Amino acid sequence: MSEVGSNIDGAGTSARAGAVEGRVALVTGAARGQGRAHAVALAREGADLVLCDIASDIDTVPYPLGTEADLAETVALVEATGQRCISMVADVRDTEAMDAVVTSGIEAFGAIDICVANAGIVAFSHFQDITDEMWDDMIAVDLTGTFKTMRAVVPHMIERRYGRIIATSSMAGRMGNPNLSHYVAAKWGIIGLVKTLAMELASRGVTVNAVCPAAVDTPMLQNPAMYSLFCPDLDAPTREDVVPRYQAMNRMGQAWLAPEEVSRAVMFLAADAASGMTGQVVEVSLGSAAGQH
Ligand SMILES: NC(=O)c1ccc[n+]([C@@H]2O[C@H](COP(=O)([O-])OP(=O)(O)OC[C@H]3O[C@@H](n4cnc5c(N)ncnc54)[C@H](O)[C@@H]3O)[C@@H](O)[C@H]2O)c1
Repeated sequence: MSEVGSNIDGAGTSARAGAVEGRVALVTGAARGQGRAHAVALAREGADLVLCDIASDIDTVPYPLGTEADLAETVALVEATGQRCISMVADVRDTEAMDAVVTSGIEAFGAIDICVANAGIVAFSHFQDITDEMWDDMIAVDLTGTFKTMRAVVPHMIERRYGRIIATSSMAGRMGNPNLSHYVAAKWGIIGLVKTLAMELASRGVTVNAVCPAAVDTPMLQNPAMYSLFCPDLDAPTREDVVPRYQAMNRMGQAWLAPEEVSRAVMFLAADAASGMTGQVVEVSLGSAAGQH
């Protein structure tokens, strides 16, 4: 591990070193989808990984969440790169659990340099039909869970005067989105959190940025409930049915991003390439917002 203490500390200077060589990265929601892709991408660039996932379902979420078997598969994929990895079942809503994840990571690998607050859920309903339980679950996981993940790791990063925090918002955090008001509120909230924490930590060696993906090809999107949201006119719509609906939402003619396309933005923010960037929102939008701002 390189000596810590400045925003650019020499890690990755060897010709053969990966972009995050010798770093330790925490990824939440790592059992599958984007979290898995980020974990593998970070490992391929030389990081050791601390992974967690809820690995159980939430009543108000209309599709199954990741499982312990999924999490074990991510661990195997990381270890196949030659990097070290520990994993825990932990719910980002649980302060003690998130503190324990961070403590375990530091005990195992000596530090946490990179934190990817990725865990999230989606659900949908007309605004007036969103129940208290639906609202509370969404805010608790997507917004408060991001806060608790960051809060667990920030004191350690301040002490070491080094850290890269990347939170997963969404293009739903850049605009309105019918039937997703609780999700949209949570994802806009993440951006406010990121910008404020970035200001508090800017002089302390810790950067805090957000990624905002457009639609991504993960189980969050690829499930019957989401197909019905985007094809309300069809009975039992399929993946093929929703392709043109998603294509119409962006300018690149691509229905959705591969998770690895988001990982590239996360890798950029995690590495010294982005040493001068904090409080920023990186849109991986397929051009869906090109006509705005
Ligand atoms: N898929 C998309 O179209 C899309 C678009 C923009 C943003 N996002 C965001 O990207 C992030 C990753 O989503 P994904 O697309 O990989 O979906 P996914 O459902 O495939 O993966 C999310 C993972 O988070 C885990 N998780 C959920 N609640 C948790 C909790 N309380 N504690 C710990 N882990 C929890 C799930 O078990 C799952 O393994 C989410 O924040 C999501 O909102 C997704």
